[in-house]
Amino acid sequence: MSVWAVLAAAGRGERLGDDRPKAFARLGDLPLVAEPLRRLDDSEWIDGIVVAAPPGWEEPTIVLAEELAAGKVRSVVAGGETRAASVRVALEEIPDEAAVVLVHDAARPLVSDDVIGRVLAPLSEGYDGAVPVLPVADTLKRVRGDEVVETLDRGELVASQTPQAFLAEALRRAAAGEGSDCAALVEAQGGRIKAVPGDRRLLKVTSAEDLELVAAWL
Ligand code: CTP
Ligand code: MG
Repeated sequence: MSVWAVLAAAGRGERLGDDRPKAFARLGDLPLVAEPLRRLDDSEWIDGIVVAAPPGWEEPTIVLAEELAAGKVRSVVAGGETRAASVRVALEEIPDEAAVVLVHDAARPLVSDDVIGRVLAPLSEGYDGAVPVLPVADTLKRVRGDEVVETLDRGELVASQTPQAFLAEALRRAAAGEGSDCAALVEAQGGRIKAVPGDRRLLKVTSAEDLELVAAWL
């Protein structure tokens, strides 16, 4: 079973507010994207990697992959306007023989082999995909403006992370859709998605504070 990874790194990082795209913000001594790239390349589960880079940053991404000796990087493409568009462009570079595609946010640098193993396992149990999830600690409310409309039943709610794993054909069928989460696209096509335990360290770097937190965990 051949497993390919898409590293979604093409976002602008507007909320981080750096003078460069989030993938190239400093994390320790290297650009942020170096950490997830090195970890995916080191993973025993992964055969090939396609990186969706910020448009105009393809060349620095290739140089970085060479510096890291990340030999599984087969292609670096310019990402699209949305995350879903970036994943679509990357998918085109994945060979037909790939049975499984793992999609990971570069903004979650601390991906581990443990969580990759957890999302891959359900694919041989009849699932079309799997996502790592965390319980939500806060009570969640639906609001309209500043007015509370509804309080949700937390028992059924989880926060979804990446890496997310899919049967390649299920993801290819769903990829035409839009949404911030690939699993949602596969769900919308009637795909079965398994929720597996996530990891707090897969925190998505959104703000400068998050970047400091992840740097402390390195
Ligand atoms: N992403 C992408 N292509 C896009 C938008 C996002 O590949 N057009 C990637 C980001 O690089 C990131 C992941 O999707 O690794 C999650 O997106 P997010 O955390 O929202 O990152 P940004 O869009 O870069 O940040 P912001 O929304 O603050 O601009
Ligand atoms: Mg974004």
